[in-house]
Amino acid sequence: MRTMRIAVAGATGVVGRHVVAVAGERGHEVVPLARSVGVDLTTGAGLEQRLAGVDAVVDVTSVRTQDRAGSEAFFGGVTRSLVAAEQAAGVGHHVVLSIVGIDDVPGGYYAGKVLQERLLAEGDQPWSVLRATQFHEFAEQVLHFVRLGPVSVVPRMTSQPVAAREVAEALVDLVEAGPSGRVPDLAGPEVLPMHRLARRVSKARGLGRRVVVVPVPGKAGRGMRDGSLTPGDAGARGRTTFDEWLGA
Ligand SMILES: NC(=O)c1ccc[n+]([C@@H]2O[C@H](COP(=O)([O-])OP(=O)(O)OC[C@H]3O[C@@H](n4cnc5c(N)ncnc54)[C@H](OP(=O)(O)O)[C@@H]3O)[C@@H](O)[C@H]2O)c1
Repeated sequence: MRTMRIAVAGATGVVGRHVVAVAGERGHEVVPLARSVGVDLTTGAGLEQRLAGVDAVVDVTSVRTQDRAGSEAFFGGVTRSLVAAEQAAGVGHHVVLSIVGIDDVPGGYYAGKVLQERLLAEGDQPWSVLRATQFHEFAEQVLHFVRLGPVSVVPRMTSQPVAAREVAEALVDLVEAGPSGRVPDLAGPEVLPMHRLARRVSKARGLGRRVVVVPVPGKAGRGMRDGSLTPGDAGARGRTTFDEWLGA
């Protein structure tokens, strides 16, 4: 396998850190992109120079919003900035991490992910998209979304969580494989309710959060509850269970 130069957009995030680690372990050179390392991808300033000599960009950026307009502005803006700079710098592959079931669950955040995928499908930059389910790590992220004193309000949600490390391995596999379009979804080994995972992570880490579970109203909430965010029988499966991850 030839070693590559890989830019990781969102290199400091939950899955981005694993992408950086996995790529490094396989001998690839990593160019990190995030505001904390001086690159704001919503403006794209200085991006083209950072992409000099890069073979592929992995986009694992995110924004904390449930607002449709905000999510579309972020994922649309980041995708347009990255693709324009990739084409100017001669980068031949754009890899995106997306989410299982986003067409069936009309949540505000998911609308931005749908736009991100559509911009690639309709554009002419060679691309790959992997959809994954929520990470095991999401059970802790979700504790911070809506906090009222010691209470964390968690949506009622059926999930099939997967270890972020295994998602990162699949993303680096995709970089190495070259532009592949949309590939089979990746999920974890078990279907589990998110609020129970949130309670378990709070207890195991001594976070002291009181988890209150609420059903999100409307079609998006129904989709979150009815398993639309899980892949059914199709696609690939991670091996690490939630308990193994929590105990590690
Ligand atoms: N979390 C999950 O369970 C899950 C499951 C499936 C798919 N996904 C997808 O995976 C991706 C990553 O999710 P995550 O949970 O790992 O995200 P995260 O932990 O919230 O990390 C987000 C990353 O994006 C960077 N970022 C944010 N705004 C930026 C900007 N304007 N310019 C440059 N960098 C920016 C952040 O760094 P700075 O703050 O330093 O800029 C950080 O490195 C998302 O697209 C998400 O939809 C997530």
